[in-house]
Order: sequence, then C-alpha cells, then structure tokens
Amino acid sequence: MAKKRRSCEGIRASGVVLLALVIIQSFSLLGACSPETSSFRNGPRSFNNKGELKISPRVKLYMNRYRPEVVMSNGLVQVTVSRPGGGVTGIKYKGIDNLLDYKNKEERRGYWDVIWNEPRDPTGSYDVLKATKFRVVKLDEDQVELSFTRKWNFSHRGSLVPLNVDMRYIMRRGVSGFYFYAIMEREEGWPDVYMDQIRAVFKLREDKFRYMALSDHKQKLMALNEDRVRGQTLDYREAVLLTNPTDQRLKGEVDDKYQYSSENKDNRVHGWISHNPRVGFWMITPSDEFRTCGPIKQELTSHAGPTVLSMFSSTHYAGREIDTFYAKGQPWKKVLGPAFVYLNSVSSRENPRALWEDAKQQMLREVQSWPYDFPRSKDFPKSYQRGRVSGQLQVHDRYVNEKPMSAKSAYVGLAAPGDAGSWQAETRGYQFWTKTDEEGHFTIENVREGDYNLYAWVPGFVGDYKYGFNITVRAGSKINLGTVVFEPPRNGPTLWEIGVPDRSAAEFFVPDPYTKYKNPVFTGPSDKFRQYGLWERYADFYPKDDLLYTIGVSNYTRDWFFAHVNRKVGNNTFQPTTRQIIFQLEDVSNKGNYTLQLALSAATFSNLRVRLNFNSRRRNMRPLFSTGTIGRDNAIARHGIHGLYRFYSINVPRYLLNRGNNTIYLTQSRNNGPFQGVMYDYIRFEGPPNSNEGS
Ligand SMILES: *[C@@H]1O[C@H](CO)[C@@H](O)[C@H](O)[C@H]1NC(C)=O
Ligand SMILES: *[C@@H]1O[C@H](CO)[C@@H](O)[C@H](O)[C@H]1NC(C)=O
Ligand SMILES: *[C@@H]1O[C@H](CO)[C@@H](O)[C@H](O)[C@H]1NC(C)=O
Ligand SMILES: *[C@@H]1O[C@H](CO)[C@@H](O)[C@H](O)[C@H]1NC(C)=O
Ligand SMILES: *[C@@H]1O[C@H](CO)[C@@H](O)[C@H](O)[C@H]1NC(C)=O
Ligand SMILES: *[C@@H]1O[C@H](CO)[C@@H](O)[C@H](O)[C@H]1NC(C)=O
Repeated sequence: MAKKRRSCEGIRASGVVLLALVIIQSFSLLGACSPETSSFRNGPRSFNNKGELKISPRVKLYMNRYRPEVVMSNGLVQVTVSRPGGGVTGIKYKGIDNLLDYKNKEERRGYWDVIWNEPRDPTGSYDVLKATKFRVVKLDEDQVELSFTRKWNFSHRGSLVPLNVDMRYIMRRGVSGFYFYAIMEREEGWPDVYMDQIRAVFKLREDKFRYMALSDHKQKLMALNEDRVRGQTLDYREAVLLTNPTDQRLKGEVDDKYQYSSENKDNRVHGWISHNPRVGFWMITPSDEFRTCGPIKQELTSHAGPTVLSMFSSTHYAGREIDTFYAKGQPWKKVLGPAFVYLNSVSSRENPRALWEDAKQQMLREVQSWPYDFPRSKDFPKSYQRGRVSGQLQVHDRYVNEKPMSAKSAYVGLAAPGDAGSWQAETRGYQFWTKTDEEGHFTIENVREGDYNLYAWVPGFVGDYKYGFNITVRAGSKINLGTVVFEPPRNGPTLWEIGVPDRSAAEFFVPDPYTKYKNPVFTGPSDKFRQYGLWERYADFYPKDDLLYTIGVSNYTRDWFFAHVNRKVGNNTFQPTTRQIIFQLEDVSNKGNYTLQLALSAATFSNLRVRLNFNSRRRNMRPLFSTGTIGRDNAIARHGIHGLYRFYSINVPRYLLNRGNNTIYLTQSRNNGPFQGVMYDYIRFEGPPNSNEGS
C-alpha cells in the first residue's frame, strides 16, 4: 500500500512539471489520485452492483520531465505513451504494472507499422511508425485525446513510407480502456508506392496472458515463444509443432497464427485472459468501414506472442491482386479506426470465462455507439455528418422463378466506384456493408460523404451485382433506391450442379487432420478447414488415381475434396491432378450451346484447364477453357476456406458433347509446390438457352 501511494505521488509531482511545459486546457491533472476500482465502466456516472451511484475519477494527464513519455489515467487504467514517438509503452491495470511485454523494446510494445515498397525497389520495407511531434488535442476532466504526428518529405525517401501520419489516443472518464486511431495522408506528387499492410500491434506479457479467446468456442491455452523455438517448424516458419512445450497439455499441437484468422464481418472482439490476476485484454472493432476489401476479407486476429492485432489492411488471403498501389498522381487520406482496447477483471473466485462474456457485452455497446461522437479529428465524421442508403434487392433468375424473388440474407454494400465485384480488391476508400432481411430490404447507415457504387451478392446465386448509377452520399442524405433487381449469370436450365454458390468451399469434403497435427479448437464441422496440413491429405484419399465425380451418384459433401491440390510424389516433387466429372446426357440439343458456370473461391499460382470428352483421339486438343495463371491468395496454406472470388461462364459447343456418357476434366497444371491449387465455390452445367432439357 505504501508503495502504491509513493508511485502515485511520483506521478502527481511530474504532473506539476507538465503545467510549466505545455499549455493545456484544464487543471484537472492536479486532482486526487484515487484508488482503482472496478465498478465504473461506462461513463462518468454509473451504478455499482449494490445500486449506489458512483462518480468516476476525472481523467488526468501527466508528463514526466525526465522521461520522453506522457501518461493518461482515469483511475481505472493508466496508459503510458512515448513522447513524441507515439508508441504505447505501458498499460497499468488492476495492480499489474504493465500488461504489455516490458521486456520488449519500448517501440515494440504497442505500435503501428506499415509494409511498403516503391515499385522500382521491390524488396519490401518495414516501417514502425514513429512520430516526431506531440500535441494534446483535448484535455478536460472527462476526456483526453493525444496526437502524435510525423510529416513526410523527400529527404525521407527510401527510409520512411511516404505518408503523413497522425496517431491518436483517447481516454475517457469511467471507461476501462482506451481508443486509438490514425489519420494517414499522401500528398500529390509523392512517390508511387505499394502499401501491402497497415496494422496496429500490441504485445502482451507472456507470464500473465496465456489464454486466448476469439469466439465462444475458439478459446485456448497458447504456446509460449520458447515452446515455438523448441518445437518443430513445419512446411513454413509460422507453423510449428509443439514437441516439448512448457505446459505438456500443448504437446503434439500445431501453433500457427493463420489458424486464428477471421473474416472482417466476424472480427469484432478478440483478445487474451490472464488468470492471476483475472484480467482480460480485448481488441474491439465496432465497424468495418475502414477495413479493406469487404466483409469477407480475412485477417489475422490474436496469436501466440502473446500478440493482439488490429489489421487495417493486408494482402492476406488475397495477394497483390488487391489494390495496394498508391499512385503519385492520387492524393489519399484515410482515417483508420477508432478501435478500442478494453480491459476487464473479475475476482479470483469468479470463472475467468466471465471476462470473455463481458468483453462481448462491451463490444455490443461499442457497436451501438458507432459512429463515436468523441474523437476530435475533423476527418472522423459524426453521425449527423453521414448519410443513409436503403432499398430492396430482388434476384431474377428465370430458370429458378419466372418472377423476381426477394434476395434474402444478401450482402449489400457501398464501395468506391468500379466494376461489379471490384470491392473485394478495393483498399483505398471506405466500405459500408449490411445484409438484407427476409424480403431483401437493406439500410446502410452512417455512410461517410462520398461517391460510391452499390454492390451486392446473394448466397445461392452466382455472380456479382452492381447498381447502374453512381451514388453520392452527403451529410444527412436519406437515399432510397426503391427496388433494384440483380439478374445473375444464366444461359440455360440447370442440368447438374456441384456445391452451393456462396464464395466458400466449406460445403465440400474437408478431411480430418493428421492426429500428429491436431489443434483441439477446430473440431467442429464449421471450422475444420483451419486445421494444419489438410492439403497433404489429398494423396491419402487419392494415392494414384484422381478424384472422379459421377453426377447422380456422388455427393459433394463426401466426394469433392475441398481443395484442388497437387499430389506429393517425392521430396519436393509434386504432380498436377485432374478431376473428372462424369455425366449423362439423354440427348444433345440442336438448339444451341451448353454452358459450364464455374465459380472459384480461391486460387494460388494456378492454371485451371477445362477439357471435355478428352480421349486418345483428341489428345492434342486445346483445352475448352483455361484460366491462365491466376491467384495469389495462398488460402490453402493459410487454412482459409476461400480467398478471392472468380467466376467464369464457359461456352460448351454442342458438337463436343455425346449422347449418353460425357466427362469434364479439370486439370490444375502448375505443380511447383504443395500450396498451389484452387478451391471451387460452385459448378453448374446448363443446357442451351430456352431449352427444357433437364428441367
Ligand atoms: C524534412 O524533414 C526533416 C525532418 O525529418 C527536416 O529536418 C527537414 O527540414 C524537412 N525538409 C523540408 C524541405 O521540409
Ligand atoms: C461513376 O464514377 C466513376 C468514378 O468517379 C466514373 O468514372 C463513372 O463515369 C461514373 N459513372 C456514371 C454512370 O456516372
Ligand atoms: C450427402 O452426404 C451428406 C453427408 O453424408 C448427407 O448429409 C446428405 O444428405 C447427402 N446428400 C444427398 C443428396 O444424398
Ligand atoms: C526424401 O528425403 C529423405 C531424407 O532426406 C530420403 O531418405 C529419401 O530417400 C528421399 N526420397 C525421395 C523419393 O527422394
Ligand atoms: C456455339 O459455340 C461455337 C464454338 O464456340 C460457336 O462458333 C457458335 O457460334 C456457338 N453457337 C451459338 C448458337 O452460340
Ligand atoms: C463413362 O465414361 C467414363 C470415363 O470415360 C468411364 O469410366 C465410364 O465407364 C463410362 N460410363 C459409361 C456408362 O459408359
């Protein structure tokens, strides 16, 4: 207790120094240093569990004359930020002096970083953003906001990413945690640059945070760094088999950060639990508007380290096919965040799982208060400065139904103007997505001012929708588009189909992992695909002959291996594989051609060739269709069940078809490694237009 008081006085003393150094708007920093308590969480006034009104301590800011840092405190949490660098070096909470890994260098505890390069210098550079100027944006008894800026000029060329950055931290009265965001800007004429990744990172201390929680069932004890060092590196360095972990319960598990990836739409809260004391550290992201490439883009979350990430942009599960190029001629500005670092605690008698349950509740509160009204940057618009776009989406596929039908549970979004589907590669602007209700109604709220296209896709139907006109949203806009109709690609009646059009390969056969590579978290059918090493299992099921799928007999749940991979035949030797789809035609129509609708959910350096009724007579025949080399999403190696979506409508001339038995051959012809291949979303064979064949 005596010790605690001493440190408290020390801070107050340095607070007095601050007054002399900086002009600030409030004297509240001289307020009493009150003991920490857990009853206050949601603002200055709240009720504790006995129903008593509690007034939270005021927010205070301290500056230490002798150390280049600034300290924010609200009686619940104390956050230390390097000055003027802007890295979070300390988070004091519930008697733990620092939740962050204090053994790490100060620049590597809580920081922003960017992976970038100039086109003429293709080797990537890595820039941990370090500000040069510090400013108090706001300070009163309810809130402090700090700004740490760095301005770029041509003297930095080659060493710093050409960006002006303004990193902000906000602490609010009675709120257990802090908010952070950044404003990034490029001026016209600055060098062309690729920015492949922008993120914020928090490294927690390993002796406290052993247990990670990503969802109700994705929660587990995690490996220590030394466990990874002592383990066996698998096919790439991120994946390690824990052969001799400190905690023997982890023995035989695979640790690989990519297993814990999540689609943006599902990535609202993730983090870590300390059991002694019982404290949670949570990354809460109330909105996707500043994330890139739409709602199903996958990003890393938390992983062994213990590391907590807030990924704003990356090429994960997409590759450079997404637009990470920032051209000289195009000025750019974007607000990334705010996101919220939430801290909670329970007593040692309570179940630590309560921390996860509480973090979910807090996440819902943050989502409800989006867009926040308290960030001070004029670049972050408040609710009244935003607009709304609504309407009703129908889908019209006349081979399914004569009349347009309601597009249920469809994804509808606003993103930068472009082609249909371009949102999945779009990184520079903001995106706003929602899902339709049972009748296809949608309302997209809180849209920032700007020019957009309206995009959509509908589970159960192939292809991408784009509304024909640009949409300009202004503050207070209430744009109702009425009924809009998506006509998905379709040439003729369905003769047969494989899978479900939903941009994922999840409905296909996902094998059990090798026992030696199990991760106990991913046992359910919905995320078995996150297990390590499944690509190798193809050769177990198909050691010599490749997959053969007979329409009417085979069942895609059991018989369509989820990834079209190469077969390993020796050390580092791989063989291309060919899938056959066998189907019968009662007759070949003379009314027109047939169509093969082919939707891929992932591709990595692949060339998929489609042949029909290929035999000795036609051996030298050119493929009916070839994708050319496509894909860099690496979804097979990274345990994604999808990467980017691709759709091909392939004309099948009727003279190639036989009455009776027909076979389609799908060959992925590139065979340089184990992770090359494609995943299918859906395949459909259609009869000629207006024919009744098969219906
Ligand atoms: C560029 O930035 C450096 C500081 O990083 C500064 O010393 C220099 O004066 C700046 N140059 C110009 C032209 O503004
Ligand atoms: C929509 O906006 C884009 C980009 O600003 C522009 O190129 C295009 O011509 C516009 N389209 C229409 C129909 O106005
Ligand atoms: C396909 O197999 C799955 C799993 O065994 C089964 O649930 C489903 O009913 C089968 N579908 C058909 C059409 O037989
Ligand atoms: C593969 O490598 C192992 C170990 O280096 C060796 O014993 C084996 O003969 C190799 N197999 C082939 C098919 O080259
Ligand atoms: C059918 O396909 C062939 C070969 O591509 C093409 O020449 C022909 O015009 C097509 N016929 C129709 C009716 O589309
Ligand atoms: C159909 O063709 C496939 C492959 O060419 C062959 O394996 C199969 O026996 C044939 N089936 C019939 C009924 O002719």
